[in-house]
Amino acid sequence: MFSKTAVFRMNTRVVSGEGEALNIGAYVRELGGSKVLIVTDKGIMDAGLLSDIQDKLSEAGIDFKVFSDVLPNPPTNVVAQGAEVAAMVNADLLLAVGGGSSIDTAKAVNVVYTHGGNIKDYAGIGKINKPTLPLIAIPTTCGTGSEVTWSSVITDEEDQFKFAVFSGDLIPELAIIDPGLMKDLPPALIASTGLDALTHAIEAYVSAQAQPMSDAFAIYAIELIVNNLRSAVHYQDNLKYIGNMAIASTMAGAAFTNGSLGLVHAMAHPLGGVFDIAHGIANAILLPYVMKFNLVANPGKFADIAAAMGESIEGLHELQAAERALHAVQSLSLDVGIPTNLKDVGMTLDKLDKVAADAMRSKNVFSNPRRNTLQDIKKLFEDAYYGNL
Ligand SMILES: [Fe+2]
Repeated sequence: MFSKTAVFRMNTRVVSGEGEALNIGAYVRELGGSKVLIVTDKGIMDAGLLSDIQDKLSEAGIDFKVFSDVLPNPPTNVVAQGAEVAAMVNADLLLAVGGGSSIDTAKAVNVVYTHGGNIKDYAGIGKINKPTLPLIAIPTTCGTGSEVTWSSVITDEEDQFKFAVFSGDLIPELAIIDPGLMKDLPPALIASTGLDALTHAIEAYVSAQAQPMSDAFAIYAIELIVNNLRSAVHYQDNLKYIGNMAIASTMAGAAFTNGSLGLVHAMAHPLGGVFDIAHGIANAILLPYVMKFNLVANPGKFADIAAAMGESIEGLHELQAAERALHAVQSLSLDVGIPTNLKDVGMTLDKLDKVAADAMRSKNVFSNPRRNTLQDIKKLFEDAYYGNL
């Protein structure tokens, strides 16, 4: 019987549908916004994804300013610049348009703009003590989940360390899931962000802090991802599959913001901070190695994952059934072109001590299902570096 205390929070209104982002004017008005700071990156601008949204805001008579300097593994100095721009235009609502980096940057800008100081001052839980501005998130990748989560992950560029800020006040008021904005995503980005979403769902489902309500979101997200990611990556007319991936990603976000994560994320963040490896790629490569390590801690949950991923587990011993989950993830990664080791994506072993020590600083170490030590994490990094699965 489930006996732990658990809280399930889903504060974000989620609106989904192709073309829904074009209703942005009405949503901003409804949330009381009249001066909007749009937080995005140059890639989104160059792809023309913002022009319709800007037109709709203008039509609704809403003032806005675009801050498009977001970088991958977003650094603190970009957050500071964004907060300065927000102050300059006296923003009363933030609109993030982009992937996880844009949404996390917008959350951090919101904190610095409303609280002052440096975003580093707010690392950890419970440091936000004043109201923040309403935030609308429009994800343009199908992998972040940040549109419904209470966390923002930022890189301390001096220390090459990725830290997280957690607060219920960071949760976006509204998420608009519009697959129309995702139809020109490069296949490699669909693959890596899709594997990030899968990692969110799997880590939340097997986490030591999993609970029935986060499990429900996690297991259905896993099912949606395995049934849609291959076609989202490879099929010419992929909009339906992209739409399903986008919903799966949001569901996986709801799962992990309540059920927490594990060693994949604890280890992926330092790879972003030190080597600037994209978050989705770091997770995608690490996922099977960490699953293999974790199987023995919670085989029943991994057996559920195997079944959700379409593996035949009838008649198998629980541990054998759990191993089928690893097989299913490896096969999906292979089919969508994920690299199989960290060496090929820029990790070097001279920084092994730093990345392992930084991984140990993550709270995800404690929610990982299997007890773990610094030595375990070093071994996992080494195995993933060489591709020894
Ligand atoms: Fe992630």
